[in-house]
Amino acid sequence: MINIQHLHKAFGKNQVLKGIDLTFDKPGITAVLGPNGSGKTTLIKSILGMVIPNQGDITVMGENIKGKWIYRDQIDYLPQIARFPENLKVSELLRMVKDLRSRDANDKKLIEFFELEPFLDKRLGNLSGGTRQKVNIVQAFMYDSPMMILDEPTAGLDPVAMIRLKELINNERAKGKTILITTHIMSFVEEMADEIVFLLEGHIHFRGSLQSLKNQYQESNLERAIAKMLEGKTNSSSNGVSKENSKFQFEKSF
Ligand SMILES: Nc1ncnc2c1ncn2[C@@H]1O[C@H](COP(=O)(O)OP(=O)(O)O)[C@@H](O)[C@H]1O
Ligand SMILES: [Mg+2]
Repeated sequence: MINIQHLHKAFGKNQVLKGIDLTFDKPGITAVLGPNGSGKTTLIKSILGMVIPNQGDITVMGENIKGKWIYRDQIDYLPQIARFPENLKVSELLRMVKDLRSRDANDKKLIEFFELEPFLDKRLGNLSGGTRQKVNIVQAFMYDSPMMILDEPTAGLDPVAMIRLKELINNERAKGKTILITTHIMSFVEEMADEIVFLLEGHIHFRGSLQSLKNQYQESNLERAIAKMLEGKTNSSSNGVSKENSKFQFEKSF
């Protein structure tokens, strides 16, 4: 469904993606992981045509996306930072978004599901972070597209909302959708992901099932397996970063 070949992206001198090759062609959930600033959002935005690569090709459903936009109708997207017009009411925003697309939206059910009715008449600028994120989620899930890309969907959610989000994602997975998710919550990855793609220093450092990562590093805990993977990386490289430092950086990044 999504095929990425030799993708390079730099912002000025900052080489963020240095030749990424990736294919997502199976149904199920892929967790795209990596430290802060490793290029997860840049990769996602490249697939959506919101970041223009310096090199490489991306095809979605067999078609090169360069200069195209209609393919985006096949992808439901939850942006990491939803910049809503602060003065609009929640109901106005949803109406505006629905007016832009000709497809049927099932926002009503989602509003009930997240108990957002009391907020429909409130301005977006006055909402708490968690409530804004729920509005963001409603928009991402209200169309029934075959692919989903969710950039940090767990951000700001309380435990009840988190359980509801997982239920929603599981429903979409059961329909056979291809779903990409970034998150820094490892318990979420353990529970939800079928496989992991780990980005580090512009490359795919690991791709495979959670179990294969755990087996490789002989750790039953995902967080520890990832820590070991990163320690191995810094130990074998000659950049002078000590084990202690790399641990510290890891903890800070996730
Ligand atoms: N529009 C942009 N202009 C300049 N630099 C950017 C831009 N977007 C991202 N970057 C830089 O690219 C790197 C990767 O960012 P990002 O893809 O957001 O990482 P992640 O999502 O993994 O945290 C960071 O160093 C970030 O500062
Ligand atoms: Mg990001």
